[in-house]
Amino acid sequence: MTRASTESASSRSKPLNGSKNGHALLREAVPTSVDVPQLRPFFGYYGGKWRDALKHYPEPQHATIVEPFAGSAGFALRYAARKVILCEVDPVLAAVWRYLIRVKAKEILSIPDLAPGESVDDLKVSQEAKWLVGFWLNRGTASPRKSPSKWMRDGIRPGSFWGDRVRQTIASQVDAIRHWELHNCSYAELPVPRAATWFVDPPYEAAGRYYRFGSEQIDYAALAAWCKSRPGQVIVCENEGATWLPFRELADVKTTRADRRSREVYWLNTFELRDAS
Ligand SMILES: C[S@@+](CC[C@H](N)C(=O)[O-])C[C@H]1O[C@@H](n2cnc3c(N)ncnc32)[C@H](O)[C@@H]1O
Repeated sequence: MTRASTESASSRSKPLNGSKNGHALLREAVPTSVDVPQLRPFFGYYGGKWRDALKHYPEPQHATIVEPFAGSAGFALRYAARKVILCEVDPVLAAVWRYLIRVKAKEILSIPDLAPGESVDDLKVSQEAKWLVGFWLNRGTASPRKSPSKWMRDGIRPGSFWGDRVRQTIASQVDAIRHWELHNCSYAELPVPRAATWFVDPPYEAAGRYYRFGSEQIDYAALAAWCKSRPGQVIVCENEGATWLPFRELADVKTTRADRRSREVYWLNTFELRDAS
């Protein structure tokens, strides 16, 4: 488990009422980032936002954070002590999150390494544990693998693949997400809206077909209307070229695929509030 450095923790504790991006004043008591443990990813995922969450997106202004397209929940991991509600339509990812939310650290520590030539099916562990390990056999995949990638077999960057370091990290973090909620449904079926920070990171319209539940299954006009009607603070992620909301350029963000760079855009509901005033 890592903690924000003193410098960045104190600088992040300030913008809560008058945020760096000019957001409205806070009316709720929201935990600050000071001394709140920041979690590392429980698993790598294609399109994961953990690395960019602090640098590129505004700080959440509400005590509740909703990630309606959860994936590996890269944004919520940075503010894990808040009330976190995840929604994920893919039953494999949903099962992995349910497992992580309830599993004991001891059980994680008992999941063995893969011996040379073995696949996850050789492990005598639950299906969810196999999927969790499967996400650590390759980097940034959209679904768990069964056998180690060449990178893992070659022993390059051992901390990036299933092994003792990863096991220890996950085990040290599971107690920090006991209060998280997970819904295995489509974003539109999420129960009762409440004022929250909504971090909306759907499969990108053009590049999001690699997911088991990808862009071809999403009605982006309906998603746009849904985003606009969320109560609270809404942050939406996309890639350059998307037009289903009036996106603005964010930054040249490195993707989880090391060889490619994508130009990220974003939309905040405060753009419209500001434009209207
Ligand atoms: C871009 S990824 C999210 C990545 C995430 N921000 C992270 O840090 O890992 C999009 C996720 O949305 C999920 N998804 C696709 N359609 C969905 C839907 N209709 N409702 C909820 N989740 C959906 C996909 O399975 C995928 O996990």
